[in-house]
Amino acid sequence: MNKIIIAIDGHSSCGKSTLAKQLGNALGYAYISTGDMYRAVTFYLLENAININDLEKVKDALTKINIQFKNDGLGTRIFLNGRDIQDEIRQMYVSERVSPVAKISEVRTEMVKKQREIANGKGVVMDGRDIGTVVFPDAELKIFLTADVEVRSKRRYEELKNKGHKVDYEEVKSNLVERDHIDSTREHSPLKKADDAIIVDNSNLNLEDQLVHVLGLVEAKTTI
Ligand code: DC
Repeated sequence: MNKIIIAIDGHSSCGKSTLAKQLGNALGYAYISTGDMYRAVTFYLLENAININDLEKVKDALTKINIQFKNDGLGTRIFLNGRDIQDEIRQMYVSERVSPVAKISEVRTEMVKKQREIANGKGVVMDGRDIGTVVFPDAELKIFLTADVEVRSKRRYEELKNKGHKVDYEEVKSNLVERDHIDSTREHSPLKKADDAIIVDNSNLNLEDQLVHVLGLVEAKTTI
């Protein structure tokens, strides 16, 4: 089987990173959730009280941010300047602030450069919003993942609740809707389906069936 690049884009909280991880494990590919990189930048700016409207300060911050991914045997975790921030960046206070940061073109340019460096050839699954359109426009397989907004909100709510976070369902849902709006309408590399991406709506698919379906799509691309 020849190795390929798999790009997974789609709406907020439709399980892109879960699918990327499943595929990575099933295929022996590296997998990267690029949303975590935008979350890491947001976390750094918050922790250092940097105003996102002060572009010079944001640009300076970018020179001080070192992002690395490490696999601990259970999965890929993100490190910011040597510190494991994987769990912290999935919290609501980061989710609520990440989309305005991901709109800043200097931030995007830096992250895209890093994403191409990390991928370093074939055999990678990368998920985000602009992977099939901007980061890897030549990816052999592009998936546009989506699900009904209520289904997505419920999954995200359960995930946060199970981790012990105090969350409100309506707050989770409005955050998803707002992020999708900001991500889809921004000027620089907005969230949109690549022309050659295959839509997968997982509203009524369990994880196992989704994996089987997508592995079928991978097979079709790797055996030709
Ligand atoms: O996938 P996620 O929900 O963790 O992503 C967090 C935010 O980062 C999301 O609101 C949009 C942004 N993002 C982006 O603009 N481009 C990407 N490639 C990945 C994420």
